[in-house]
Amino acid sequence: MNLTGGWHWHWRAWRSQQRWASASAHIEAWLLAQTMPRQQLVLIGASAGWMMPTAWLAQFKTIHAWDIDPLAAPLFRWRHGTTLKHLGVALHMHTGDGLARLPQLVQAHSDAFFWFDNVLGQLRFTGPDLSSVEWQLYQIQKNMRSVAWGSVHDRMSGRCAPKGALPLPQEGLAPVAMDSPSAQTWLHRMGAISPCLDHLTEHVLPKGTPVQHTAWDFKPGYAHWLEMGWCPAGQ
Ligand SMILES: C[S@@+](CC[C@H](N)C(=O)[O-])C[C@H]1O[C@@H](n2cnc3c(N)ncnc32)[C@H](O)[C@@H]1O
Repeated sequence: MNLTGGWHWHWRAWRSQQRWASASAHIEAWLLAQTMPRQQLVLIGASAGWMMPTAWLAQFKTIHAWDIDPLAAPLFRWRHGTTLKHLGVALHMHTGDGLARLPQLVQAHSDAFFWFDNVLGQLRFTGPDLSSVEWQLYQIQKNMRSVAWGSVHDRMSGRCAPKGALPLPQEGLAPVAMDSPSAQTWLHRMGAISPCLDHLTEHVLPKGTPVQHTAWDFKPGYAHWLEMGWCPAGQ
């Protein structure tokens, strides 16, 4: 069973498009403003790209998208395929474990930009135990050293009682420790109610990577703290 994707993810994402529009717009604005290489993109955890901007995808010449979910390829094509084809982007959809294949993918696409799209914060649900997940995330960071790469992932999620709308994005530098004043202020602005679920992603991105924090109105009374950042090859 796919605990982080599959039909239940597509169903929730399809129904929540309006609720998620603000977080998606913040992700889009951030991605479009970045200067990552834009020749070839390797996407891990693409799903149907429910929260992924077509405008950013269209800036690449070639895209290799990976997901373990067999529904991801047809739905990704349905959502983004027509525009990408029209603009001459070569889209290759792969059904399989993109994380297990990372060393081979990095070798095969050494000039590509690698993007983990809301997948690394989900490993805590699939790993055998929490320390193995932290080890796996550390190994992923090590595997990526020779290429430009980045990730959007959950940092924390949980019940929220925001006083008004969720806060606008906040900038920072990885790692933003949970007990740091900036993390505590951010959680307070989100209206987070303790205890929150830690997605174990504090150290996913190399130290000093510029990051954006975005609040994601996941469902009524429940929000996710998303973190996004990228680094050039050799970091
Ligand atoms: C939260 S969803 C991602 C959402 C997606 N980026 C979007 O915008 O719709 C996480 C996705 O990661 C996929 N996934 C989980 N483990 C994976 C792996 N080892 N390799 C490739 N995809 C994986 C799941 O099937 C799921 O589609």
